Amino acid sequence: MAAVGIGGVVLHSSFLGKKVGILKPLCLSIRLKKQCNFSICGSFVHDLFVGVGVGLPCTVMECGDIIYRSTLPKSNGITVTVPGVILALGTLSYLWATPGVAPGFFDMFVLAILERFFRPIYKKDDIVLGKKLGEGSFGSVYRVSLARKPSSKSADLVLKKATEYGAVEIWMNERVRRACANSCADFLYGFRETSSKKGAEYWLLWRFEGEATLADLMQSRDFPYNVESLILREVQDLPKGLDRENRIILTIMRQLLFALDGLHSTGIVHRDIKPQNIIFSEGSRAFKIIDLGAAADLRVGINYIPKEFLLDPR
Ligand SMILES: Nc1ncnc2c1ncn2[C@@H]1O[C@H](COP(=O)(O)OP(=O)(O)O)[C@@H](O)[C@H]1O
Ligand SMILES: [Mg+2]
Repeated sequence: MAAVGIGGVVLHSSFLGKKVGILKPLCLSIRLKKQCNFSICGSFVHDLFVGVGVGLPCTVMECGDIIYRSTLPKSNGITVTVPGVILALGTLSYLWATPGVAPGFFDMFVLAILERFFRPIYKKDDIVLGKKLGEGSFGSVYRVSLARKPSSKSADLVLKKATEYGAVEIWMNERVRRACANSCADFLYGFRETSSKKGAEYWLLWRFEGEATLADLMQSRDFPYNVESLILREVQDLPKGLDRENRIILTIMRQLLFALDGLHSTGIVHRDIKPQNIIFSEGSRAFKIIDLGAAADLRVGINYIPKEFLLDPR
């Protein structure tokens, strides 16, 4: 901290017929801590304005700080006004209306942080790579098992090594797990892996839901009858034909729309729904959604390219 004082200057002058008084000592104080705080006080500038007659009304009129404050009405707390109430109600309804900005921020700043204390954590060394299930432009998907409990059924997992947008896909899967777990494949954990030769990758782990996607099932000549025993448990006592096919398709569509409704009611738009991204879960005998890499979270504005605008149509 440093303080510099410049000695007093006495000046008698007359501007426009108005006598200017004795100038008080000019003082210049400079504080140097983390932030710099310069304050220059002196009546020289004030007297100059008064003399010239130019300046802010209070400067020229010499009403001064004390008079100015004493003439203000005293506030006894919050004053409720009609525009204020309208503004407050508008803000509240915006925060709670679809897609739900307020619950989104509660999820982001409370639930997501709490969840971190309870979820199991996996690392690269826990994972034993198996067969490759798919390769997209943004990463590869493998069937994997856990080194720690190789014989356990729960060790039957799927790993995606995502080169791009992996962080956003982890966020979407975590959100889904908290809000509508049954809509999508059962997500376990996601982390950034830097030891890969290709550079940093995001590794995402799910439970292995089943062998077939809706696209695989649709390729069979027997579709939709090949799905019938999967979702309806037993084959219907009906001759093959439109009626029977309709009942199967209706059940598939009901499951799909249920899963999508779960996603939408939590503010997530998938943006890449197609038969390849719908997996048949053998455990729950229902279709589930996978591949949230292109999704957008309308509640908190997270997008697959977070720096680009949220609703970009690509
Ligand atoms: N949880 C899962 N259980 C079983 N298979 C899965 C699971 N997740 C993905 N797969 C398989 O991996 C393939 C690719 O997965 P996806 O997430 O769509 O990756 P990509 O980004 O390459 O499209 C799927 O078509 C499916 O066959
Ligand atoms: Mg896909």
